[in-house]
Amino acid sequence: MRIILLGGPGSGKGTQAKMLVDKLGIPQISTGDIFRAALKEGTPMGLKTKTFMDKGELVPDDVVIGVVEERLAKPDLDKGYMLDGFPRTLAQAKALDKILENQGKAISHAVLVDVPDEELVKRLSGRRTCRNSACGAMFHVMFNPSKKDGICDACGSELYQRNDDNEKTIRERLGVYNNQTAPLIQYYEAKSLLRKVEGLGPIEQIFGRIEQAIA
Ligand code: AP5
Ligand code: MG
Ligand code: ZN
Repeated sequence: MRIILLGGPGSGKGTQAKMLVDKLGIPQISTGDIFRAALKEGTPMGLKTKTFMDKGELVPDDVVIGVVEERLAKPDLDKGYMLDGFPRTLAQAKALDKILENQGKAISHAVLVDVPDEELVKRLSGRRTCRNSACGAMFHVMFNPSKKDGICDACGSELYQRNDDNEKTIRERLGVYNNQTAPLIQYYEAKSLLRKVEGLGPIEQIFGRIEQAIA
C-alpha cells in the first residue's frame, strides 16, 4: 500500500503515521523528518533546508524531489510506504507520478486529515517532540501530555519544541499550506484517490477513521 498523508501543519500526519507504521508494518517517509535529521548531522542539505524551514517557507522543489527520489529507490519499500508531508506542491505531485510510473507502481490512497486552521494553531503551539530522531514521538502539553514532564514516554529522551512552532511561523506555514498544498486535494480527487477524514476528535478515533478510509 502506498499512501499519501495530506493535511495542514499540525493536522496529525506524524502522529497518525507512527500508529500506521505499527499497524501496517510499512515505513513512514516524512520529508520534514529527513531535513531535521540532516540538520542534526550538520550536512550541507540540512543547513540549506533550515533557512526555509525556520521561516515556514517550502524547501525548493528540486531539493525535495531529489531527496524523495533517492528514498523511494531503497529496497525496504516492497510492502509500500506512507508519505508524510510530501508532495506539497503540484510540481512535487507530478514528479512523484513520474517516479512511480517509472517503477511501474501507483499510489493507493491520498488521505486528507481535515482540521480547521484555528485548531492547527493550538496544536502546534503546544507540541513537544522527542529529541531522539529514531523515535520522534509527538506530545502536546494539553491534548496529549507525556507521563513525565519533558520526557518521552516511548524512549525516555528529552522533549523539545520545534523551531518553527512559534505563532509567527505557524501562521506563515498555514498560509503556505492553503496557497500551495491545498490545491493537491483537487489533484487527487480528480484521480479518485482522495479519502477525506475528519481530523477533529481523539487521536485513536481518527486512527479508526483512517483505517476505514484505506480498507
Ligand atoms: P513538516 O515537518 O512536514 O511539518 P508540517 O507539515 O508543518 O506538519 P507538522 O509536522 O507540523 O504536523 P503533523 O501533521 O505531523 O502533526 P503532528 O502529528 O505532529 O515540515 C516542516 C517544514 O519542512 C516545512 O515548513 C517546510 O519548510 C519543510 N518541508 C517538509 N516537507 C516539504 C516538502 N515536501 N516540500 C517543501 N518543503 C518541505 O501533531 C501536531 C500536534 O497536535 C502534536 O502536539 C500532537 O500531539 C497533537 N495532536 C495530534 N492529533 C491530535 C488530536 N486528534 N487532537 C489533539 N491534538 C492532537
Ligand atoms: Mg509532522
Ligand atoms: Zn522518544
